[in-house]
Amino acid sequence: MDLIIRRPRRKDLLMLRSFLEMTMRHSFKINGIVNAETELFKAIQSKYQDLLEDVQSDGEKHFHLLAMRGDVLVGCMGYGAPNELIRKYMAISSEEHVELKSAYVHPWYKRQGICVTLLRELVKQLQGRGWGEMYLDCGYGLSQPFWEKQFGPASKTLLDHWGPGEHHMIWKVLL
Ligand SMILES: CC(C)(COP(=O)(O)OP(=O)(O)OC[C@H]1O[C@@H](n2cnc3c(N)ncnc32)[C@H](O)[C@@H]1OP(=O)(O)O)[C@@H](O)C(=O)NCCC(=O)NCCS
Repeated sequence: MDLIIRRPRRKDLLMLRSFLEMTMRHSFKINGIVNAETELFKAIQSKYQDLLEDVQSDGEKHFHLLAMRGDVLVGCMGYGAPNELIRKYMAISSEEHVELKSAYVHPWYKRQGICVTLLRELVKQLQGRGWGEMYLDCGYGLSQPFWEKQFGPASKTLLDHWGPGEHHMIWKVLL
């Protein structure tokens, strides 16, 4: 079945909530992030809030794209104002910069080119809106090689940020 990339709609919100619960819980688990129910809940809530604001503001406040195979939501990616860690360590403001965020692919559909397809479409959207660069960060050790493959070595690595050997990486990417 073909992959369709489209904008989220109000009636997708319940499905998006379940998708975030499932993909983020799975990501925490496979990355060995344990005893972190509060952090997980906050992270899900924050990403859901971004999606809600996207739908409510028609893509003005936050902007996401969904990847669908038929009725199944298989991926999500968005952009918005940079988070606190990026602002702090890259010394940038939230108003004049943008962060690529909320990149999640359904565990059953990984390694099928869904993330790179979403990435390509999101970059087109950013370029179309006049952005010449974007930031992104990643604390999941298993996913950092994916971003390195896309964008090369991180612009900044916060060594042992999450514990011994658990680094946080930030990229500044020219579009
Ligand atoms: C990271 C993630 C978004 C990648 O999505 P995906 O749809 O599986 O990636 P793609 O299929 O588009 O992969 C594109 C390429 O990257 C490679 N790749 C994918 N995941 C990789 C990984 N974890 N490490 C190294 N390479 C990876 C693929 O093999 C593919 O290579 P190819 O072009 O040579 O064939 C997905 O694994 C995911 O949702 N992870 C959990 C959430 C997460 O970590 N999100 C990012 C938060 S910062």
